[in-house]
Amino acid sequence: MEAIETAQSKVPRGLVVVDVRDLRKVYDSFGHRVKALDGVTLSVKAGRFSAIMGASGSGKSTLLHLIGGLTRPTEGQVWVEGNNLGAMSDRARTIFRRRRIGIIFQEYNLLPTLTAAENVALPWLLDGKTVRETRRRVGELLKLVHLEERAEHRPDALSGGEQQRVAIARALLNDPAVVLADEPTGNLDSKQSAEVWKLLRRIADEGGKTILMVTHEAAGAAHADEAIVLKDGQVVGRLEPKGSADASLVATGYQELAG
Ligand SMILES: Nc1ncnc2c1ncn2[C@@H]1O[C@H](COP(=O)(O)OP(=O)(O)OP(=O)(O)O)[C@@H](O)[C@H]1O
Ligand SMILES: [Mg+2]
Repeated sequence: MEAIETAQSKVPRGLVVVDVRDLRKVYDSFGHRVKALDGVTLSVKAGRFSAIMGASGSGKSTLLHLIGGLTRPTEGQVWVEGNNLGAMSDRARTIFRRRRIGIIFQEYNLLPTLTAAENVALPWLLDGKTVRETRRRVGELLKLVHLEERAEHRPDALSGGEQQRVAIARALLNDPAVVLADEPTGNLDSKQSAEVWKLLRRIADEGGKTILMVTHEAAGAAHADEAIVLKDGQVVGRLEPKGSADASLVATGYQELAG
């Protein structure tokens, strides 16, 4: 998996990459306040794959968006690779996010008029990287996600699972330290979902990436090292599937914590 690693960007395993301290987020919605996160503290070490579980409205997406620097906390701190996101200017945070954080959403967010390869390449081409170095990098990444054969296909000629793998390749373009995924398999069938979970597992194990994945599915969380369970904006417990892919273990533990 040299493809997604470079010597400079490799964070030693065991080092805390994501550190969240007493995080609170209150939304003001039509005159009433919604406490989306109510004092969340957690840390994730390099190369670890963590799942975030919880009922709808428990604050999972809010937590992921705060870790990705997409929104600002009401209180508390998010540190990524030793950088306090809240202390950065908006511009500095945007640049940091583009370099160090890869984000994957449920809806893939591919541009329909571009091929798979062009979708992966676009951020680098906009950044002024040469076509030659971009082509090499995109080739590596499409190989990593097993889509070399689909490089010239547009999104409408790809299955949902293939489109999500293109989005994962794009998220890895800059060799980020952290990959955030918000219900990446929400639109996929069970076979395609399993491919995405195994791919994320491999990206953590072989690529050394720190992964946080929001999921409703015990079968998905079972691929992670740990599952952090949220309820009403708070962490109510942790499960340790340790990448066992044993969904029943997670399902039972989750019911006890969140049910
Ligand atoms: N932009 C917003 N403005 C107002 N309230 C919001 C906003 N975003 C989220 N909320 C509220 O904050 C709470 C947590 O929302 P969040 O989207 O983080 O939940 P979630 O766990 O991701 O849910 P789901 O599983 O449905 O995606 C919910 O009550 C939601 O309605
Ligand atoms: Mg959500």
